[in-house]
Amino acid sequence: MMDDFVDRATLSSASANPEAILAAVAAATIAVDEALTIRFVNAAAEQLFQTSAPAIMGEALSNFLPPSGAVMSLVDQAKREGGPVSAYGVMLDTPRTGVRTLSVHVAPMSDTNGWLVLSLQEQTRALKIGQQLEHRKAARSMTAMASLLAHEVKNPLSGIRGAAQLLEQNAPEDEKHLTQLIRDECDRIVALVDRMDVFSDERPLARSPVNIHIVLERVRRIAENGFAKNLKIIERYDPSLPPVDGNNDQLVQAFLNLVKNAAEAAPRTSGEIVITTSYKQGVRVSLPGTTGRVQLPLVVTIQDNGPGIPDDIRPHLFDPFITTKTHGSGLGLALVAKIVADHGGIIEFESEPKRTLFRVMLPIITTGEVAYG
Ligand SMILES: Nc1ncnc2c1ncn2[C@@H]1O[C@H](COP(=O)(O)OP(=O)(O)O)[C@@H](O)[C@H]1O
Ligand SMILES: [Mg+2]
Repeated sequence: MMDDFVDRATLSSASANPEAILAAVAAATIAVDEALTIRFVNAAAEQLFQTSAPAIMGEALSNFLPPSGAVMSLVDQAKREGGPVSAYGVMLDTPRTGVRTLSVHVAPMSDTNGWLVLSLQEQTRALKIGQQLEHRKAARSMTAMASLLAHEVKNPLSGIRGAAQLLEQNAPEDEKHLTQLIRDECDRIVALVDRMDVFSDERPLARSPVNIHIVLERVRRIAENGFAKNLKIIERYDPSLPPVDGNNDQLVQAFLNLVKNAAEAAPRTSGEIVITTSYKQGVRVSLPGTTGRVQLPLVVTIQDNGPGIPDDIRPHLFDPFITTKTHGSGLGLALVAKIVADHGGIIEFESEPKRTLFRVMLPIITTGEVAYG
């Protein structure tokens, strides 16, 4: 016990230099006092505002951030509510910074009366909300394509297939493989069109309160008995999560697709998938063109220790038909994006060798909420 005490004391005096630590943080970090005067900035903030710390400190925050802009309104909100707020997809457009899309977190400091800490992170790795909308657009064009395929391709195909079958009856033995080829290819295209059918389902989601842990439990069981047999699946759940207002089967499908990708990426030996759930208050999304913000407090992550997502497909990861697998359809993540969007949620990913993580954030429904999608 005593040793432990001594060690801690030595550690804190020898190595804790908060400024050095903050200098290494990639997010622009700014502390302001209760009058919104800037009291501290880290190196990333100097870089964001293209100036040095001494030139910023002591200045009003409103000299650096547009007074009626989105970041300032988050500052006001954190101050008013006395708790942390976050928003994704916040636009910042000032002469110093240029146009940027940021993740913004504002939190009151616990031990200093009225001080706030802002952290502004450029959204390069996390998906920008604009891209989220792009996914929705992609899903919509998939929808149009799926119904076109159903009508213009699927119906004639069954005719072609039937004709091939008739020909086959009278075809000489050594030519039967040709009619067989026609039938097989027809079947393959029909199967592809059927797989795309989910995209053409435009009906509103049949929602009910869903326990996300029951969803994940089912996903884990399917995975363990099939494609993830040789992998270790680790679960880290926050058991106190409230239910999601969603569609059980679709959520199973979405997480199954994510876990399947994780299993396919994980190494054959010592492959590991970590599934976590948590409740993260204050994550809000402001959507372009609307004034409302939606809370996305339910967070599910699926992480694997595979090689990571190839760089070249990252910008289009959620688009249909993007695949690096020989027999991949490239529809897995497109469907995940559609399902998450239909639930009013957001999906983002982080990927580096040995650590690829998909994070799904889902809303809890409150009355008077903005509808979108
Ligand atoms: N966990 C992951 N680790 C590495 N790459 C991934 C992961 N998840 C998805 N990918 C990449 O994204 C591509 C698209 O995935 P998906 O839409 O599910 O289609 P498919 O699995 O049929 O290829 C995959 O081919 C793979 O290159
Ligand atoms: Mg897949």
